[in-house]
Amino acid sequence: MRCTKSLFTLLAAGLLIAAPLAAQADPAEIIDERQEFMKGLGQQLGVARSYVQDGEGTAADVAEAARTIAERAGEIVALFPEGTGMHEVDIETGARPEIWEDPDDFAAKAEGLSEAATSFAELAESTEDPAEIGAGMAALGRDGCGACHRTYREELD
Ligand code: HEC
Repeated sequence: MRCTKSLFTLLAAGLLIAAPLAAQADPAEIIDERQEFMKGLGQQLGVARSYVQDGEGTAADVAEAARTIAERAGEIVALFPEGTGMHEVDIETGARPEIWEDPDDFAAKAEGLSEAATSFAELAESTEDPAEIGAGMAALGRDGCGACHRTYREELD
């Protein structure tokens, strides 16, 4: 059993080293980074809004922005490490404690955004009609962004 024991010791030592490394990330930096990231999602959605409301750009631009949102959705969960919630830090953040109470559902909402954005991209690849694209944009806002925000985001002033 010596072998098992030393393997265990090795693993335990590994955990001891890994834990403080993960904890070292500065919550203020992470919060800043994720708020910028979220603004970036808003800018991508803005490409669709400009097309629908002002006739700026093309449906292909809208589709590209939607694909970008779909890809970036995969980065959301990593931007919310433990210890960065509004109940834990004295920094302005709208990240509600529910994120860490039900991490599987939070991850499912991020996945939901990816799916909603992909459907929207497909729509913008199949039509140039601003009314149809407008309806798709509203659906993405509701089923992608809003579905997560409703439960997990506190609006800041
Ligand atoms: C899986 C959950 C989730 C999804 C999906 C999501 N968000 Fe967020 N969003 C959050 C949370 C949580 C915050 C609060 C972050 C903070 O303040 O630290 C936030 C904050 C924001 C903010 C405010 C940023 C700031 O400067 O304070 C904007 C803007 C935003 N989201 C836009 C979007 C848009 C647009 C989409 C869809 C394209 C989207 N979000 C999808 C969870 C999500």
